[in-house]
Amino acid sequence: MTDDSLPAPCTAVRTAAVIPAAGRGVRLGPGAPKALRTLGGVPMLVHAVRALAASRAVRLVVVVAPPDGTTEVKALLAAHTLGERTDFEVVPGGDTRQESVALGLAAVPEGHDIVLVHDAARPLVPVETVDAVIEAVRGGAPAVVPALPLADTVKEVEPGPAGEPEPVVATLERSRLRAVQTPQGFDRATLVRAHETVAVDSEGATDDAGMVERLGVPVVLVPGHEEAFKVTRPLDLVLAEAVLARRRATDVR
Ligand code: C5P
Repeated sequence: MTDDSLPAPCTAVRTAAVIPAAGRGVRLGPGAPKALRTLGGVPMLVHAVRALAASRAVRLVVVVAPPDGTTEVKALLAAHTLGERTDFEVVPGGDTRQESVALGLAAVPEGHDIVLVHDAARPLVPVETVDAVIEAVRGGAPAVVPALPLADTVKEVEPGPAGEPEPVVATLERSRLRAVQTPQGFDRATLVRAHETVAVDSEGATDDAGMVERLGVPVVLVPGHEEAFKVTRPLDLVLAEAVLARRRATDVR
């Protein structure tokens, strides 16, 4: 066996995380931008940053802030303990999630071969899920997505005006469907190529792995976690507070 046949040591592969946090979160109701809403007294964004920095592999976290809010976000991160192993950077975002991710990706210096993209709106993702995604990329998968089976049956419709009855087009086979979460993990070169070459409509892509699929590059799923849910609507805030309260009650440290 030659040295070339040995796997590269894990420490040689640096991982960076990009956290798009520039959305207004209108579905959550009026108030501060979603990422700055608090859970257990701590801004959602700070929870999300800590969740990624909790992984020993993550060396850098790039937060993509609302364009008019970078100073506020920098001050917010400076005011909270984040994680000593990890460097942090804040850059201004764009009009769509896709633009915000591209701007965050551009701020990741060379030498980080794995890039995670994680929604600030998923503040409670467990570190085990983050590590499982990184491990799968290290194992050779160019794009890795945590995902869960669906509880609800999903129907495709011909969308109509809000509140009006909508005609059903098809009923999808639930056992073949998965709900995808973040962090999504990528071989950096693959993600850069996707953002450079895949054209998307004016709304932008809501899922980075979907852009990689359009390159014809395989995407694989690993098990997600129920606590990695996205805080989108007011009821999600109630659930997030309950998860935090349970963690505090069972935290033996
Ligand atoms: O709106 P949605 O819940 O899909 O947003 C997902 C993530 O993308 C959120 O963390 C949000 O802050 C971020 N986003 C962004 N820039 C935008 C729109 C959304 O960073 N222009």
